[in-house]
Amino acid sequence: MKIFRCMAQWRELRTDLTGRIGFVPTMGALHRGHLSLLQASAADNDVTVMSIYVNATQFNDPNDFAKYPSTLEDDLAHAEAAGVDVVLLPEYEQMYTDKFRYQVTENEFSNQLCGTDRPGHFTGVLTVVMKLLNLVRANRAYFGLKDYQQYMLVRDMCATFFLPTEIVGCDIVREADGLAMSSRNRRLDAESRLLAGRFNRLLAEAKSDDQARLSLQAAGMQVAYVSTLGQRRCGAVVLGDGSDAIRLIDNVPVEASLQESKMKEVNT
Ligand code: PAF
Repeated sequence: MKIFRCMAQWRELRTDLTGRIGFVPTMGALHRGHLSLLQASAADNDVTVMSIYVNATQFNDPNDFAKYPSTLEDDLAHAEAAGVDVVLLPEYEQMYTDKFRYQVTENEFSNQLCGTDRPGHFTGVLTVVMKLLNLVRANRAYFGLKDYQQYMLVRDMCATFFLPTEIVGCDIVREADGLAMSSRNRRLDAESRLLAGRFNRLLAEAKSDDQARLSLQAAGMQVAYVSTLGQRRCGAVVLGDGSDAIRLIDNVPVEASLQESKMKEVNT
């Protein structure tokens, strides 16, 4: 496995690379969700490239950025075992030579759901993903469907700007109690971790978004939003208070039968 800290050196090597290239962008603190993306890429492509870059421009909360977990040595060992060939480890100065003067912004969907209380978050995400996709020029890039809004925005950005990389959405990987894997989970204390395990079930079992919101609140979670997008009910909750608060997101398929009863309600 080759590790590049210098993006100029990586770009030089990239011109000589042939075969199908798969790319998994990450912010490190790898968990089984990331490993499933890396394994999917290694199975589908000749070369798998992974980036680890904690992107400051997508953190609207400086405290969240400061506390973002960093586990580089473990990450590199897991990446190698999962079949990664190349790891990119750029620094801010290399990614933002323009000091963030140039930005990629989507003006509608990015202001909803997570965008409502995270102003600028998706501009940071789309800008860095555009830079990374241009650095790697992969055939396919793999994104987890836990961040469903991010997946949709990245997929549509690629289509809008005619980028050649296919965006592949991969299934959510969960803990035994249903909690979706996330790097932030390791910051949950014992009490919040127990509560977090109910998030997925309460979201899935409710008959409507309003009912889900009420059940989550009754369980003791602060609800940022619950909203159904097509066939998925998406939600975000905050557990804990003050500087220890952790924001979790998740989404579940909405059963066709529930969709049908909703349609009936609308039509009567
Ligand atoms: O999903 C993430 O980990 C990040 O938003 C990403 C796609 C690596 C961009 O920084």
